[in-house]
Amino acid sequence: MVVCRYPPMNMVDLHHHLLPGLDDGSPDLDTSVAMAQIAASDGITHIVATPHANNIYEFDPKAIASAFDALQSALLMNRIELTITTGCDFHLSYDNIQDAIAHPRKYTIHGGDYLLVELPDHGLSPHLDEAFYELGLAGMKPILTHPERNPTLQRDPTRLADWMRIGVLTQVTTSSVLGHMGRSAERMSHQLLSDRWVHFLATDAHNTGSRPPRMRAAYDAVAKKYGASYAQTICETNPLAVFENRILPEQPNPLHLYEDDVDLSRPWWRTIWKR
Ligand SMILES: [Fe+2]
Repeated sequence: MVVCRYPPMNMVDLHHHLLPGLDDGSPDLDTSVAMAQIAASDGITHIVATPHANNIYEFDPKAIASAFDALQSALLMNRIELTITTGCDFHLSYDNIQDAIAHPRKYTIHGGDYLLVELPDHGLSPHLDEAFYELGLAGMKPILTHPERNPTLQRDPTRLADWMRIGVLTQVTTSSVLGHMGRSAERMSHQLLSDRWVHFLATDAHNTGSRPPRMRAAYDAVAKKYGASYAQTICETNPLAVFENRILPEQPNPLHLYEDDVDLSRPWWRTIWKR
């Protein structure tokens, strides 16, 4: 007998390199169909296909529309039940930020308000605070992708706390939660979950093997450790609101973020984060 520990899932994946031939994600349509099949079998019902926009991969809306149409037809032909749309894995470079401010709906999820943003790999410029502020002024709601994989934030999450206080939302990668992205990313993802600093889990899937489009195992792990309600919030309710460009429902109270008694001059996170 199959025992279902949790209700049937309707998981929404906001970060997924599903479109063929655009970046270091799916190389071709067959792989995209295979990724879609794995995702649907795993309980994912909606996917935002998010090609990179960085100094290696150009963000080309025409090429994206063409790849999207080809994939949509292939999903229909293969009877894969998935609702898909497009967004962008938006690198926070100066040129990208200026272009997004000039064209606020070019990079956002489903042409709505929410924008996935990726930090530079090395160093965190002081200008990032300003960048988040300017994106907000232009009407965009930034969702910071995988802060748990950033070495600077792993050492000191103060900047993340600052950004969250001005409304930046956070997305953690499912494979980090499961320990497949290294010890530091695993440890930080669990600290973020424990403190309720996570608004979304997403796969950041690139292929069918090493970076697969699966959410269920991470959903189960979060449900077991932090409660079924929180797992549902960050895997279903919140990402569906983003997919449909709605305001997020009331969120769990984050710990260690707004308390007046937290003295940021003391390295409180070294105790809390066991570093
Ligand atoms: Fe990505």
